[in-house]
Amino acid sequence: MTDDKGQEYLDFYGGHAVISIGHSHPHYVKRLKDQLDKIGFYSNAVQNPLQVELARKLGKLSGCEAYNLFLCNSGAEANENALKMASFETGKSRVIAFKNGFHGRTSAAVAATDNLAINAPLNKQQKVSIVPLNDIESFKTEIEKDDVCGVIIEAIQGVGGLDEPTTIFYQEIAKLCKQHNVILIADEVQSGFGRSGKFFGFQHHGIEPDIITIAKGMGNGFPVGGVLIHERIEARYGMLGTTFGGNHLACVATMAVLEVLEAEDLLKNATALGTYFKEKAKDIPQVKRVKGRGLMLGLEFDFEVAELRKKLIYKQHLFTGGAKDKNVLRILPALNINMEHLDVFFEALKKEL
Ligand SMILES: Cc1ncc(COP(=O)(O)O)c(C=O)c1O
Repeated sequence: MTDDKGQEYLDFYGGHAVISIGHSHPHYVKRLKDQLDKIGFYSNAVQNPLQVELARKLGKLSGCEAYNLFLCNSGAEANENALKMASFETGKSRVIAFKNGFHGRTSAAVAATDNLAINAPLNKQQKVSIVPLNDIESFKTEIEKDDVCGVIIEAIQGVGGLDEPTTIFYQEIAKLCKQHNVILIADEVQSGFGRSGKFFGFQHHGIEPDIITIAKGMGNGFPVGGVLIHERIEARYGMLGTTFGGNHLACVATMAVLEVLEAEDLLKNATALGTYFKEKAKDIPQVKRVKGRGLMLGLEFDFEVAELRKKLIYKQHLFTGGAKDKNVLRILPALNINMEHLDVFFEALKKEL
């Protein structure tokens, strides 16, 4: 990125993990421009073959071919619809979510978000139980009440500060969901689309969610979200709908991202660079802990990072992110960065520390 004075910046944040293949990737720009010359939008009253093409390619690349795709416009809308599907499917209405989780700002999504300050009285009417991550006994107590429609979980918490469920915990909650007829929703809005080194974050844990929600990196900045619904759940006509969702430009933006992820082998790059990042971080004594996987990373310090972030942007010209945990510096670069970019980051970080 270059500012109005000609100063160059490296973006290690990508607008909250949105920029997955880089700002203005030439293939992405060309695909969108070409589509705009044909048609940008028509409503879902008319079949759009690009949606079918996209659903097939997404299923194949992610290894999730047993799911149907509903396209919408943001992460919150994806989670809102996922929670609604869970309630339609089970006939129940309480949701279990996790401490420090973030799922968006719409009605049910914000109610499932562990932040009272962003919940209006209207949202507080929803029935949600927030339990600590990796505390199976608290989870059991809630799910055994048998009025739960869905459980929503991030494989790597984004806004919260990069905490993760353990594999045993994720597998155990998946098992309990099945036993109690509860829909397991994997919120992959931030951790999906290759960011963690696998296509989806839950794939590190060998489980199969009932519903997967996606957005952020999906469109590399074009507003698009999606809900992948396992084919064992019937999404009947009228349950889901949207005017703008799955429009021609959104489909092409997402196709372009998938094409670049595949052609440039970016999941492999994310894994390799995540490992390199963790190695380099070991040389910095002030770093208490490195969190995350692939290129969804956090550096934990024993002080608040707000000042450090300011120095990194104004003096070193590097964008980084903060988290709800104020001691965590969040690093979410495009998945096609290289080792030299990380070397620049660590040199700058050492200087400012
Ligand atoms: C895990 C997760 N879910 C949902 C959302 C909400 O997405 P959006 O801002 O596109 O509504 C976010 C946004 O930060 C997120 O990190």
